[in-house]
Amino acid sequence: MLDEINRLRRELNSHNHKYYVENAPEISDYEFDTMMRRLQELEEQYPEYDDPNSPTKRVGSDLTTEFKSVEHRFPMLSLSNTYSMDEVRDFTERIEKEVGQTEYVCELKFDGTAISLTYENGTLTQAVTRGDGTRGDDITANVRTIRSIPLVLQGDDYPELFEIRGEIIMPYASFDKINAEREANGEPLFANPRNAAAGTLKNLSSAIVAKRGLDCTLYQLAGDNLPFASHWENMNKAREWGFKVSENMRLCHSAQDIKDYISYWDDERKKLPFPTDGVVIKVNRYADQRALGATAKAPRWATAYKFKAEQALTRLVSVDFQVGRTGAITPVANLEPVLLAGTVVKRATLHNAEQIAQLDIRIGDMVYVEKGGEIIPKITGVDIDSRPADSKPFEYITTCPECGTPLVRFENESRHYCPNQSHCRPQILGRIIHFIKRKAMDIDGLGEDTVELLFNSGLISNPADLYDLQAESLTPLPRLGSKSAENIILSIERSKQVPFHRVLFAIGIRFIGETTAKYLAAHFRNIDAVATASTEELMQVEEIGLKVAESITGYFEDKDNATMIERLKAAGLQFEEETRELSSDCLAGKSFVISGVFSLHSRDELKKIIESHGGRILAAVSANASYIVAGRNIGPSKLQKAEKLGIPLISEQQLEEMIEHGPQANENDDTSSGQPTQGILF
Ligand code: IVH
Repeated sequence: MLDEINRLRRELNSHNHKYYVENAPEISDYEFDTMMRRLQELEEQYPEYDDPNSPTKRVGSDLTTEFKSVEHRFPMLSLSNTYSMDEVRDFTERIEKEVGQTEYVCELKFDGTAISLTYENGTLTQAVTRGDGTRGDDITANVRTIRSIPLVLQGDDYPELFEIRGEIIMPYASFDKINAEREANGEPLFANPRNAAAGTLKNLSSAIVAKRGLDCTLYQLAGDNLPFASHWENMNKAREWGFKVSENMRLCHSAQDIKDYISYWDDERKKLPFPTDGVVIKVNRYADQRALGATAKAPRWATAYKFKAEQALTRLVSVDFQVGRTGAITPVANLEPVLLAGTVVKRATLHNAEQIAQLDIRIGDMVYVEKGGEIIPKITGVDIDSRPADSKPFEYITTCPECGTPLVRFENESRHYCPNQSHCRPQILGRIIHFIKRKAMDIDGLGEDTVELLFNSGLISNPADLYDLQAESLTPLPRLGSKSAENIILSIERSKQVPFHRVLFAIGIRFIGETTAKYLAAHFRNIDAVATASTEELMQVEEIGLKVAESITGYFEDKDNATMIERLKAAGLQFEEETRELSSDCLAGKSFVISGVFSLHSRDELKKIIESHGGRILAAVSANASYIVAGRNIGPSKLQKAEKLGIPLISEQQLEEMIEHGPQANENDDTSSGQPTQGILF
């Protein structure tokens, strides 16, 4: 039986490679799925032959993973970059002055998120993000779900231990599919494939990552015993081991070769199915790379030529003004349709009045449109020469286009606002739609269309009205049967259990996002404490500055808001943060420094948890500290100091364990990372 299992694993690995790396499948999806199912059956039947690297294990797991911060064996540097061909020539001239006539490798600059993969004895053992270049997050579980990354290598001539680095990218097709799904679910869209790839990799469930269609191209090897003395030869070898190495790399012998490569890809890249943002030029021979060395930030043997954002010239037909849920006015340009980076563009953002005035944009002008990192393109300039003789400076609106109320501008804010929060239609609708969102009250029986329908029929004009709805009053409405009416009532009822910090996010205080709401809830514990806090008290909370503090006090001063909150309280929503931890004195005599970014708790929460168990909080690392509770992105100087003083680092889970089992729970853990090994490159 083991023979059949091994054969299936071998064949499935090989078909995975043909499909995901070579883009040349040899069998149909159906045949592939049938083999996969057979292997799954056999593995279930014979658990003794389990193998963590089996192709069946690519689906990921629903168990959430906390990312461990690990030190890179070789730092992950960035690249110097330029938009000018002249500077590329300066680069090659400098190189040749230092090392003489040499070879270069030109390759595409993939626009995703950098990853460093470690292979030991031909097996993927670790995948770490770039992080701050010195330490990154261990995201191995997520990376293992990416089909173009081999879990086990082919051949037998790879070094025992090496790292290979590359870019995890999201092809346009996957990006479009995910955003379409997110739009349908009322979730915020990813601005671009790069953000989508990075966001996906930080997802705590690898089962979700597995479904996101990520891809990975490798572009750098690092290790002690690489087979060849040049980048080009080693990358070609890595392809034989099963890695996806771009076929578009070129070995160049002169500045002219480099220039030709860049001009070719400047245009040709538009046809690629994944995003690129430039060309990377690398000195090929390692001996030359070593001689050239690196600055603190980037190697001196490589540089990136960045492509200019694609631009189009078209006519500005008119400007619409949209009113958001907080009353913010956004001007949107209507354009004569024009082709830009593969899509037809009809609308563009203009940001605010100041920007329109600064660029002196006028109706009827020919304007330059660019696609930057945003979903909606933006206007970046005007072709003054083609301006019609009778054109007039643009006049920004002074009253709300929806309700006619005079607009206001807050100090240090470039946007205009409609102050008529309670009676301006898009603001009312926007607030209710925000309130029901998944990350807020998660009232999934309702969608935007239904909210609009309920509003138009006079049944709701405020989030609190939702809790007075009866199934009988919904059924007569068009498109709402008794089943969906019941569902709506049921999901409204369920929302009464949503925890306080999400309620605080849901009620729509300007500038209060999910994270700030969490910090506020952890700090003040209940709504009355938030509502009566002074701006100074509010500013004690992490991430809250004067502008946000004033927005909070302003919110609670408003009578309509106060009435709404009273009604929501009466309906039974959670207006108090649950205290999960039981107080004890199990941390008495221990002092803690909290540093970094955490996933399970806010810093304030951690502080409260420690204090409620008798521990003390220290502001800085010193010999008095017993432990450092370390989150992600903890600063390198803190780490160094902790190491010097021999203070152990613990994660937030370890802190929880400590509270559960007493401080000795962690004493045998080895939390320090291994010694960096000597290696070439970087
Ligand atoms: S080489 C020390 N090659 O660009 C040099 N980087 O702006 C290491 N990138 O962090 C990088 N495509 O994430 C290299 N073909 C390529 C690349 C590439 C994209 C990214 C990489 C790096 C960033 C620097």
